[in-house]
Amino acid sequence: MHVAIVYESLFGNTRQIAEAIGEGVRQSHPGADVDCLQVQEANPDLVESADLLVVGGPTHMRGMTSRMSRKAGLHAIEKEADELKSHHEPEEGAEGPGVREWFRRLPKTHDKLHAAAFDTRAAAPMSGGAARGIARKLRHHGYELVSEPQGFVIEDAEGPLRDGELARAKAWGAALN
Ligand SMILES: Cc1cc2nc3c(=O)[nH]c(=O)nc-3n(C[C@H](O)[C@H](O)[C@H](O)COP(=O)(O)O)c2cc1C
Repeated sequence: MHVAIVYESLFGNTRQIAEAIGEGVRQSHPGADVDCLQVQEANPDLVESADLLVVGGPTHMRGMTSRMSRKAGLHAIEKEADELKSHHEPEEGAEGPGVREWFRRLPKTHDKLHAAAFDTRAAAPMSGGAARGIARKLRHHGYELVSEPQGFVIEDAEGPLRDGELARAKAWGAALN
């Protein structure tokens, strides 16, 4: 079984969730070949052959990130660095395209391959979530969703993740087929 987990992350929280999902998949499918790929490393030919494709990203403006929202996020990191003299390094590749742009490069599948979507988001009541939009794009690309879109909660815009979310991500990954 080949599993590809593709994630986008500005501050590292979505990467941590993606890695925990990967651990869960490896636990429940010990022979599986699991690739956990930052969106810019995820060449469509690496992903096309996957029996299960899991895609996740941060929630920005109540949905999937955009070029503008990522710019705003990176600007906030720079501003914080100037004001507080502390520096929260953006994730490698944070300046580049995100999941929304990546879907434009992903060919449609006609094999009804399995897929699942996740996001990271704030706990606030109107916070929205990116996972539904990601799930919609997966469906439009011909994938069959094997789980409800999942949101994993952060305590603040830059993290950390809420206690227990990594364990929940691992369990969610373990249950994917
Ligand atoms: C520009 C911007 C807009 C955001 N908008 C939302 C939002 O509408 N709802 C929400 O739950 N979180 C929002 N957040 C917080 C992100 O969800 C949070 O930064 C992200 O989950 C952290 O994941 P990452 O470390 O992988 O980037 C926003 C963050 C940024 C930078």
